[in-house]
Amino acid sequence: MANDTLTITDNRTGKSYEVPINEGTIRAIDLRKIKVEDTDFGLMTYDPAFTNTASCRSSITFIDGDAGILRYRGYPIEQLAEKASYLEVAYLILHGELPTASQLKEWSFWITNHTMVHENLKTQIDAFHHDAHPMGMLCSSIASLSTFYPDARNIGNEANRLKQIYRLVAKVPTLAAFTYRHTKGYPYVYPDNDLSYSGNFLNMMFKMSELKHSPDPVLERALDVLFILHADHEQNCSTNAMRSVGSSQVDPYSAMAAAIAALYGPLHGGANEQVLRMLAEIGSPAGIPDYIAKVKTGEKKLMGFGHRVYKNYDPRAKLVRDTAYQVFEVKGRNPLLDIALELEKVALHEDYFVSRKLYPNVDFYSGLIYQSMGFPVDMFPVLFAIPRTIGWLAQWNEMVQDSEQKIARPRQIYTGYDSRDYVAIEHRD
Ligand code: SDX
Repeated sequence: MANDTLTITDNRTGKSYEVPINEGTIRAIDLRKIKVEDTDFGLMTYDPAFTNTASCRSSITFIDGDAGILRYRGYPIEQLAEKASYLEVAYLILHGELPTASQLKEWSFWITNHTMVHENLKTQIDAFHHDAHPMGMLCSSIASLSTFYPDARNIGNEANRLKQIYRLVAKVPTLAAFTYRHTKGYPYVYPDNDLSYSGNFLNMMFKMSELKHSPDPVLERALDVLFILHADHEQNCSTNAMRSVGSSQVDPYSAMAAAIAALYGPLHGGANEQVLRMLAEIGSPAGIPDYIAKVKTGEKKLMGFGHRVYKNYDPRAKLVRDTAYQVFEVKGRNPLLDIALELEKVALHEDYFVSRKLYPNVDFYSGLIYQSMGFPVDMFPVLFAIPRTIGWLAQWNEMVQDSEQKIARPRQIYTGYDSRDYVAIEHRD
């Protein structure tokens, strides 16, 4: 049996070093012993954007990018999307096991009974301009929640962490809906504890003068499935932000505001909004060749395509597309679907995309559903943030309990000036 070690020969000195291999990795710190002079700092790894660096050990989500596999705590996403509810999956992601009936009942009770927010948050949202982007309002509102719950700083206490997790999972839909209502000048709608998690969100979004909002069951289930598909995705950009900011031992509200900010970016959760804008810009299937030409020159990106990990079809994209047809049966076919389907067909045969292994990702079809359900385009990233809340919190909770973790503080390759003396301003040219 070959040793699970790496033998490294430093050709600068002729010295050899044995470095242990564990779980397909070597520890970067083991390279520090490789030096030319004893006074050297030792070797580091250089990995901009962490393309080949494991930052943590996690048991929450498994992705096989080549095989197009996604599992939450070992359960295939396809089975969860078909058979589970979002709150059931949220419990699984946080606690590691599917809940029993009594566990799900208690979990649902606590989430349902934390949906209200302090009235002052309405005043804060009222202060935003009428056309403020909902993600900017949501990011700010979540950060300000930390000022209403100072006890959240006690991150070392498990029961306290769980209480903050209840609060965040429960209040994000309320605040998300409030941001939308603000942009429309509509009154805020309070949570209805008789409704499901997704049903209540639709209620807070779309209730008007009716005494009690009854969400369409097809749309309610479709949203629940979309929430399941967006719940976690291992160490993506926003989860990395959650873990990194959380590693300073700040409260989870402040850490999650950072995660929302990361998700807001057009390369990440903001992509679903950009896909709709791209499809509208293309205008019709006839506009596809011109747009593809601009992508090939680098002038444009094919939004909703490509992924750092999936070098095969994102398994979520197919499930989102299947869900779209169920929504369109209720709300009518979204005319942009024809452009999206043709764009996918063209891109999957164009060498530019095939050679770069660019396939539709979770954001490619989701916006079509959201638009058909009546959500404005700028709400799409918010619809990503709501379900990803449990993923961020489960990853944060895992990080807080991981004895190997401490404050995140990467090193750098310094490329600046060597030491130089101060120059008085009169002598500067
Ligand atoms: C999400 O990480 C996650 O798990 C994220 C996510 C989650 O659930 O948390 O899955 C959610 O963010 C999905 C991704 C949504 N973003 C988009 O759809 C935006 C468009 N996609 C790209 O920006 C890009 O594909 C990324 C950001 C998703 C991935 O970027 P990478 O891994 O850094 O890949 P890259 O930029 O190095 O691209 C490799 C090549 C480059 O070409 P060359 O320099 O080799 O010539 O592919 C090209 C890129 O220019 N390329 C694209 C492209 N994506 C990559 N070209 C055109 N259109 C694209 N969409």
